[in-house]
Amino acid sequence: MSVLIKGGRIVTAADDYVGDVFVDNGTVAMLGQSLDVAADRTIDATGKYVIPGAIDPHTHLEMFFGGTTTCDDFTSGTTSAAFGGTTTLIDFCMQTPGDTFPQALEKYFEKIERAKPVIDVGFHIGVTDLHTGGTLEDLAKLPDEGVTSYKLFMAYKGAVMVDDETLFKTMQTASETGALVMVHAENGDAIDIIVKKAVADGHTEPIWHARTRPPETEGEATNRAIQLAHVAGAPLYVVHVSCKDSIDPIAYAREKGWNTYGETCTQYLFVDESALDQPGFEGAKYIYTPPPRPKEHQEHLWHALHADVLSVVSTDHCPFKWPEQKGINGEAFNVVPNGGPGIENRLHMLHHFGVREGRLTLNRFVELTSTNVAKYFGLYPRKGTIAPGSDADIVVWDPEKRLTISAQTHHSNVNYNLFEGTEVVGAPDVVLVRGQVIVESDELVAQPGAGQFVKRARFGEELLAREAVPA
Ligand code: URP
Ligand code: ZN
Ligand code: ZN
Repeated sequence: MSVLIKGGRIVTAADDYVGDVFVDNGTVAMLGQSLDVAADRTIDATGKYVIPGAIDPHTHLEMFFGGTTTCDDFTSGTTSAAFGGTTTLIDFCMQTPGDTFPQALEKYFEKIERAKPVIDVGFHIGVTDLHTGGTLEDLAKLPDEGVTSYKLFMAYKGAVMVDDETLFKTMQTASETGALVMVHAENGDAIDIIVKKAVADGHTEPIWHARTRPPETEGEATNRAIQLAHVAGAPLYVVHVSCKDSIDPIAYAREKGWNTYGETCTQYLFVDESALDQPGFEGAKYIYTPPPRPKEHQEHLWHALHADVLSVVSTDHCPFKWPEQKGINGEAFNVVPNGGPGIENRLHMLHHFGVREGRLTLNRFVELTSTNVAKYFGLYPRKGTIAPGSDADIVVWDPEKRLTISAQTHHSNVNYNLFEGTEVVGAPDVVLVRGQVIVESDELVAQPGAGQFVKRARFGEELLAREAVPA
């Protein structure tokens, strides 16, 4: 099957020119002006942007958390992602305490076998326990399976939080195996004390989620993780940075040339703490962690994206239905499952409020949502760019298409949207994964199973050949 995408504005992290893309057998075969080549299918991209498919390195599909399971499986979650222009995601394969890492992985392979993805999928391993099931020896073998990132939680005490010993030993292992360490950076011990006091004092409304997780607790943990990773000699990626307190230590490390990277998520750029402060249980929709911050942090986040202190925008899509799942344990803020949705609207929001409003160049938009993710997570240059030999994961983006974001029209199973009612200009027209059209004219034309598991390269290594294992 061959596809010729004609006359679009081809934008990668580095380039921006009008031309044609010829796709053959799933990969980009040729780029040029007015290509004279026969194709099975021609897509007229005049007036459109032709960009690399976005990659989301932070999702939680069909994950048991907070007493319930996120309401998108790998079919609905990847479908929703596809409608927003995302063609690969990397989900967290969480180790249930007591399980070995191979057992944890096996369970996630079963998930993508049962609920087949429509876009490509990779896994990070979520390390929760090195005492009863998980061993460093098993952890060291995972990069050979294409699982080349280890994620640890420095918060959620009594659930998935690890101690500094586990964190540091995992970092040491990563420095030997070439894996990237990812951290949820908050001081879980301090937060636990603050939460217990607030609840004892009778403060249970959703706004107390933010009041009990002050930005300093994120800043402290970010700095601790950075320093420990530096001692261990491991590359570090700090997930969902929400505030200046966490940006500052990342800026320090990057100035020193350390292998430290930070992502923020769409919601931290647009939703502030006041969303939690609504009557009744409404604010529980915004109980995700770290919490939405006071508005002034948003300008710091935009500045950090501009200055390359933060270099990825992900979604942390962790959807629970409201009120049934959010309220499953009761309405006190400390028992509400933590997580918010957003897998579909990352590019919509960043294009409209970033590119159109002059905060991001188009190249930077592509870099933040695709190219840098591919580079850090062992997918580049197979993914994250449009170049001869790369996978034809391509979005034909209509910069003038209008959309009102809403839970009524999004494709996730979740029944609310953090950006409900926001009017944006710019949306995907056609989405291709490895040369197959999966979304076109607002219709899903892919069959579940169009996506494949991707074995990723180690940190700093390139992924050249296509070696996907069928999902
Ligand atoms: O509240 C959130 N973010 N839930 C998902 C788990 C995590 O911390 O990323
Ligand atoms: Zn987290
Ligand atoms: Zn997360």
